[in-house]
Amino acid sequence: MCGIVGYIGDRDCQNTLMAGLARLEYRGYDSAGIALVDATGGMHARKRAGKLKTLADDLANTPMADGHIGIGHTRWATHGAANDTNAHPHLSCGGKLAVIHNGIIENFAELRDELKADGVEFCSETDTEVAAHLLGREYDRTGDLVAAFRNVAPRLEGAFTLLAVHADQPDVIVGARLNSPLVIGLGEGENFLGSDVAAFVEHTSKAIAVGQAQIVIVRKDAVEIVDFDGNPATADEFEVNWDASAADKGGWDSFMAKEITENPEAVSNTLMGRIQDGAVTLSSLDVLGENYFREIDRITVIACGTAFYSGQTAAYAIERWAGIPVTLELAHEFRYRTPFITDRTLVISLSQSGETMDTLMAVRYAREHGAKTLSICNTQGASIPRESDAVVYTHAGPEVAVASTKAFTAQITALYLFGLYLAQERSTLSSDEIADLLDEFQTIPEKMRAVLEEHDRIKELAHWMADARSVLYLGRSTGFPIALEGALKLKEIAYIHAEGFAAGELKHGPIALIEPGQPVFVIVPSPRHDDSLHPKIVSNIQEIRARGARVLAVIEGGDATVLPYVDEAFACPPTSEFFEPLLRVIPLQIFALELSTAKGLDVDQPRNLAKSVTVE
Ligand code: F6R
Repeated sequence: MCGIVGYIGDRDCQNTLMAGLARLEYRGYDSAGIALVDATGGMHARKRAGKLKTLADDLANTPMADGHIGIGHTRWATHGAANDTNAHPHLSCGGKLAVIHNGIIENFAELRDELKADGVEFCSETDTEVAAHLLGREYDRTGDLVAAFRNVAPRLEGAFTLLAVHADQPDVIVGARLNSPLVIGLGEGENFLGSDVAAFVEHTSKAIAVGQAQIVIVRKDAVEIVDFDGNPATADEFEVNWDASAADKGGWDSFMAKEITENPEAVSNTLMGRIQDGAVTLSSLDVLGENYFREIDRITVIACGTAFYSGQTAAYAIERWAGIPVTLELAHEFRYRTPFITDRTLVISLSQSGETMDTLMAVRYAREHGAKTLSICNTQGASIPRESDAVVYTHAGPEVAVASTKAFTAQITALYLFGLYLAQERSTLSSDEIADLLDEFQTIPEKMRAVLEEHDRIKELAHWMADARSVLYLGRSTGFPIALEGALKLKEIAYIHAEGFAAGELKHGPIALIEPGQPVFVIVPSPRHDDSLHPKIVSNIQEIRARGARVLAVIEGGDATVLPYVDEAFACPPTSEFFEPLLRVIPLQIFALELSTAKGLDVDQPRNLAKSVTVE
């Protein structure tokens, strides 16, 4: 939540900052602003409520002065409405110091009282302005921006990444972080800062992930990192493996449309290099020790939103393959009951961004209570993988649309690989069984492409349903979390009431919602599977049909046993039981995309949301 950028070097600062903000806009888009220092030491700041385009139009009409050092911010409001005044940067030192902030300063009220008692006048409702005035006061006292940060950062509680520039020190950007992300992009004779690498990946792939409670002093040709006491500190340097063009819309109407079509690559890239001779290799897990996976007796998966549903989907397979109980916890609930954790519990966190604050806090809690933590993450250098004992990266590439699509299928893929790896280590499946499953796994990207061919039919349905007021989703077994995920997608980008249910739960209450014409998506498993799920779901379809529901089914192609009872059917190629969800979810993603489009909404940036939820 909130994207921050910084630049120092010979490029045009305004354009470089605006390009960085454009790549981070998914982190918050209710206002934006930049500040830069010109060659004569003058501070210039501009900020506007609304999307980045409002600021861009304003700058196009009246460009700012030339400058080669500056900071920029795109906001997701926490304290104070989304208006020009509350937008960042915030200024102090008589307009000479500009500050931007991502996070929440929890003790802002008492600090504001202290500053007010000192005669400071506030003009915004934000917690950030407190930091700006504290830094300003310390700068006035010490004449040194780094000293100001060292004196102020330890006093701030909560989560913050702060960046500041001062007109009298036009050769340095100083920043600090605690519980919020900050990465530095290392250039030749120039350096970049960002909330994540997307901010600068078009300029450099050399990056540093700034550690907890560190202060960074970034000059054109030097980067220094110290802790809050001023002692030299080290941070992780890494090579960004994202291709800059992967974060471009590339001719698509929306990032979400592009990212849905990238589902097959997200799966194949996540599998790549991890299957050898019919077995799974996950060398990044070696750090956990040779016998570790034979000794654990429980897995707890923690995540939020779509990431949670990927965990819920994969739990069925992991339990079956590896013979170990898997429990799921919403990360924000995890710490508030007494979770059952021992040193034989593996806690797996799932996060596309790697910065979700609720998940990060749950990971810390798990480690403090003796569990080992494994992060499944899509973003290099992010806080959650860095604070975990081990990491398995998904390779979905940058996901820009706020609604997660390809990261979801990549997460399930990584979890399935992990489940099969666990089965190998614990000898719960034979090597032939594992090899067969892996063979099938590798056919999934191609099968996903076949599902994507249903796009136009789904679009037709979605446009026809543009006035729908409620859509329900039903599934059993792995179809249940897919139903939940389908409903979440529709809520968040089409603003339509949607709910997912376990189909077996229908008769325990939700069937009362069915009235003539109620659209219901039903996730139908293959009739070929050796279980009783298919006839049960067909019975559920009969029950809702008898009450007038309009049944929209996602089925295995050619499933003639269900066709007579449904109004619309979208076909997926046959696959084995646990791989079905990777296919079944795609029509639901397309449906939400197209319904949002039909309603004329902003598909990529739905109201009230931000992609990376870095506040609790
Ligand atoms: C929904 C969506 C969110 C995220 C959730 C967790 O489309 O994107 O529900 O899945 O906020 O985010 P990460 O995976 O970054 O931890």
